[in-house]
Amino acid sequence: MFNVENIRKDFPILSRTVNGKPLVYFDNAATSQTPQQVIDVIVDYYSNYNANIHRGVHTLSQEATDKYEQARKKIQTHFNAKLAHEIIFTSGTTHGINLIANGFSSFLKKGDEIIVSALEHHSNIVPWQMLCERTGAILKVIPMNLDGELIMTEFDKLLSDKTKLVFVNHVSNALGTVNPIEYIIEKAHGVGAAVLVDGAQSSPHIKPDLQALNVDFYVVSAHKMCGPTGVGMLYGKEAWLKKLPPYQGGGEMIAEVTFEKTTYAELPHKFEAGTPNICGGIAFGAAIDYMNAIGFDTIAKYEHELLEYATNKLLEIDGLKIYGTSKHKTAVISFNLEGIHPYDVGTILDKLGIAVRTGHHCAQPIMDFYKIPGTVRASFSFYNTKSEIDVLVEGVKKAKTMLS
Ligand code: ALA
Repeated sequence: MFNVENIRKDFPILSRTVNGKPLVYFDNAATSQTPQQVIDVIVDYYSNYNANIHRGVHTLSQEATDKYEQARKKIQTHFNAKLAHEIIFTSGTTHGINLIANGFSSFLKKGDEIIVSALEHHSNIVPWQMLCERTGAILKVIPMNLDGELIMTEFDKLLSDKTKLVFVNHVSNALGTVNPIEYIIEKAHGVGAAVLVDGAQSSPHIKPDLQALNVDFYVVSAHKMCGPTGVGMLYGKEAWLKKLPPYQGGGEMIAEVTFEKTTYAELPHKFEAGTPNICGGIAFGAAIDYMNAIGFDTIAKYEHELLEYATNKLLEIDGLKIYGTSKHKTAVISFNLEGIHPYDVGTILDKLGIAVRTGHHCAQPIMDFYKIPGTVRASFSFYNTKSEIDVLVEGVKKAKTMLS
C-alpha cells in the first residue's frame, strides 16, 4: 500500500526548513531528492570498497567492479534492453546526446536532414546544430500547438529519404507533455532514419520498454530518478554502438595501444574512457531498486492525482495561466501570473520555503513560441503531498497580492 507519509521518512532533506518554513520541494524536474537507501549505498562505497574498477586484481577493485557491473545489469533490466553492453554509463543525458551527435559526424553528408522537435531542451538542440555545422546537414523542427503538443501531421510532412536522424524528448521538461514517441519511432524507421529519445523527464515517471519501443538510442540522468548527479545512461542498439566511433580516447576504452595504432575495447568499454563515476553508477542502480520497490504504476497514478489537484486549485486564481495543457502530461505545471515576472513569483515562493524553477527552463524556443520570458514551474514527485500543494497555492496568492 502506498503511504506517502512513510515514503517521506526515507528522504532526510524533506524534514528541513528553508527561510524558517518547512521545505516544500517542487523542483523535481530539475533534480529529484535522494532517499536514505541511496545515501547509504554512497556512504558504504566510500567507507568500505572505494577503488578503481576493471583495473586491479586486488579485492577492493574486484568488489567495486562487481557492484558497478551489477548496477549496469539493473539498469538493463529496468529499461528492458536486450544486452547489458547496450547500456553505456555517462555523466548524464547531455553527455549521452553529445556522444551520439559526435559519432554521427562521420555518417552524415551535406543536405542530409535531422529532425528535432519544438519542445526540446537546449541539450537536444545545440549538439545537433553543432553536428549540422560540422557536416552541412540541415535541421528541421516539428512544430507545436498552443496546448504544447507536437503536430504529428507536420512531422509526417518533414519525413523523406533525406531524413537520417530524429531526436525528440519523451516528456517536455518545460511543459510536461508526453510525446507520441511510438508513432515518431515507427514513422522515422519507415524512411530509414535513426531515432534518439531523450528520456531525462520521462524516466522518473514512466518505465519504458526499450525493446518494445524499438528505439535506437535512449538517454537518461540518474539525478532525476532519486540517484546522484553526474551519472546517467545511454542506451544504444548493439548494431549502432558497434558502428559508431568512440567519443573520448583514454584508458579503459582500448584493446591495445602502440604509437603506431590503437585498437578499441569491446562494448560497453569503448565508450567509457577514463575512471567513471563508480559510486554514482552503483547508487544509480540502488535508486532504480528504490523506485521499483514502490512501483512505477503506483508512482504514475499518485502523481497524476497531484497534477489534477494542483491544476484545479491553481486555475482558481484569477489571472493565472498554465502553459502546457495536453491531456498527456506528467506532473509538471508551468504557469504565469498576468503582468508579473516569473522570477519575482519564484523569489517570494522561496521566502515561504517553496522551491520552484523559474525562467526559460533551458527551452527558450518554447518560451518564444508563447511570447513569454519564462514561467514558474512546479514539478511534483511521488513524495509530495496535497497539503504541500495547498501551501503553494497560498504562496502564489500571496505573491500576486504583493506584486500586483
Ligand atoms: N533540465 C532540467 C530542468 O528542466 C535541469 O530543470
